Amino acid sequence: MGKPVRDPYDLLVIGSGAAGLSVALGVLAADPAARVAVLAKNDLSEGSTRYAQGGIAAVLDAADSTEAHIADTLNAGAGICVEPAVRAVVEGAPAAIAWLLEHGVVFDREGDDLHLTREGGHSHRRIVHSADATGKAVQMSLEARIRESGAELFEFHNAIDLIREKLPNGRPGRCVGAYGLDRRDGRVKLFAARAVVLATGGASRVYLFSSNPDGSTGDGIAMAWRAGCRVANMEFSQFHPTCLYHPKAKSFLVTEAVRGEGGLLLRPDGTRFMDDYDPRGELAPRDIVARAIDDVMKRLGCECVFLDISHKPADFIKAHFPTVHAEALKFGIDMTREPLPVVPAAHYTCGGVLTDLAGRTDVDNLYAVGEVAFTGLHGANRMASNSLLECLVVGAACARDIIARRGTIADIPQLAPWDETWVIDSDEEVVVAHNWDELRRFMWDYVGIVRSTKRLERAKHRVRLLRDEIDEYYGSFRVTNDLLELRNLSLVADLIIRSALARRESRGLHYTIDFPTPDAVAPPQNTILVPKNFSIRRVI
Ligand code: FAD
Ligand code: SIN
Repeated sequence: MGKPVRDPYDLLVIGSGAAGLSVALGVLAADPAARVAVLAKNDLSEGSTRYAQGGIAAVLDAADSTEAHIADTLNAGAGICVEPAVRAVVEGAPAAIAWLLEHGVVFDREGDDLHLTREGGHSHRRIVHSADATGKAVQMSLEARIRESGAELFEFHNAIDLIREKLPNGRPGRCVGAYGLDRRDGRVKLFAARAVVLATGGASRVYLFSSNPDGSTGDGIAMAWRAGCRVANMEFSQFHPTCLYHPKAKSFLVTEAVRGEGGLLLRPDGTRFMDDYDPRGELAPRDIVARAIDDVMKRLGCECVFLDISHKPADFIKAHFPTVHAEALKFGIDMTREPLPVVPAAHYTCGGVLTDLAGRTDVDNLYAVGEVAFTGLHGANRMASNSLLECLVVGAACARDIIARRGTIADIPQLAPWDETWVIDSDEEVVVAHNWDELRRFMWDYVGIVRSTKRLERAKHRVRLLRDEIDEYYGSFRVTNDLLELRNLSLVADLIIRSALARRESRGLHYTIDFPTPDAVAPPQNTILVPKNFSIRRVI
């Protein structure tokens, strides 16, 4: 080994949502002198966290119980949640809420207590929230804290790939950093670090219609897979039942709390339908509600269904749902007087990079936290408002692990800079735009809410052709943000299709007409995919 890198970061966090910022702030709270870098593909605020509406699940009411929250989560997860993960996250909820309050997040109150709302799958009121803009309240407070913390912030930097140390036997060793594209000047920088955290969010933008911001392109899952980490349960793409249906609304989410507070789902003729599908009606878990809506739309050939809460007083609606109310008004729809037109859209990636409960992956010194990760909490279907909770609880545990191990990490060897010798500027950007569109369309049509083996096989064939074309393009041209995202999305699409084909049953969010029921014979399993370069077997 030559001379070590001078002054590597103690911690490189890729992603600035609830997951990334809780790890970064946790490490800095324990060691204010730590050198921490945070990368974000856009500005710090732009991620799913900022758009979260409903809230964060936590048992805070004397009538509720930890066991009930655990039971609801296991029930929504349809038999394949990893129970210790569920217990750890649920038990960590009250401390996570206390941590957010300490960091300045303002939640709605009822007298001295936090106001708790209700969402699908939860047997009690246990959702802590900031009206219907909880994510914004969390993101803005954590962002303010990180800006004053001394962390180095790299906005508009797109992490391309992780770097693993080359061992004397030629095999890849621990993670020692990442390459990142500065989107403002097109330069690729090297970030050497003793510990790296992937907190890049989900991959729901692999579908044509999604509630997620544009950047949810599964970058962390793709980077981890290329670096040799296993991924799990990628077939479980969650579709949120109710996004505003309007040509200009760009899949704006209508929070599940609208149903929690009494909103009813209606056919275009004004009749209710949820009781025909599940005894819990509008408060069934969202896989059931999304499939019911899909079924009604297909049966009736209608473009949307309707969500009606106009029977509640206008003041109540405006106080509880100011964001949804204002957004719908922009399109001429007044939810205090009329039902909202709604359709399902891709919302959450239940699968991801396999980790333990401190975010540790298969590669030493590489962690994954938040929507990018698979801890086993969500099983075959995430319950509403358990996601931000997971970001916070696992984020705190990850920070503790990094702090505990920091003295044991050896020097980082010199690392090769990004090599652009063989590439030129693209003169065919149209190929990237065209492939984006094609990928998202066939994922929606063939790998959506209702699947079949024939459609999945068709998608598998299409994604293989696309990936070959994208790889050739990637090897020839200078990288751009769109190309990097497309490369990652096509890999993630492949992982979703492979996982969906491997599951020969219907369970939770994965529904296929060829195997319409859960497998009653084989014990329920998580789907774990192993990359070719997988070498270390350590977590779970
Ligand atoms: P994100 O918040 O998505 O952050 C990802 C970060 O990674 C961003 O900073 C992004 O710029 C960065 N990034 C991505 N790729 C790269 C790259 N290559 N290089 C550098 N940076 C990168 N969950 C709940 O629990 N309750 C809710 O009420 C709720 N409501 C929701 C409403 C909406 C509309 C949406 C979309 C989601 C909602 N969810 C909710 C889900 C929840 O918001 C997300 O799962 C959670 O916020 C994910 O947080 P995260 O930190 O893992 O990722
Ligand atoms: C919502 O507010 O309906 C979203 C909640 C979630 O995705 O957890």
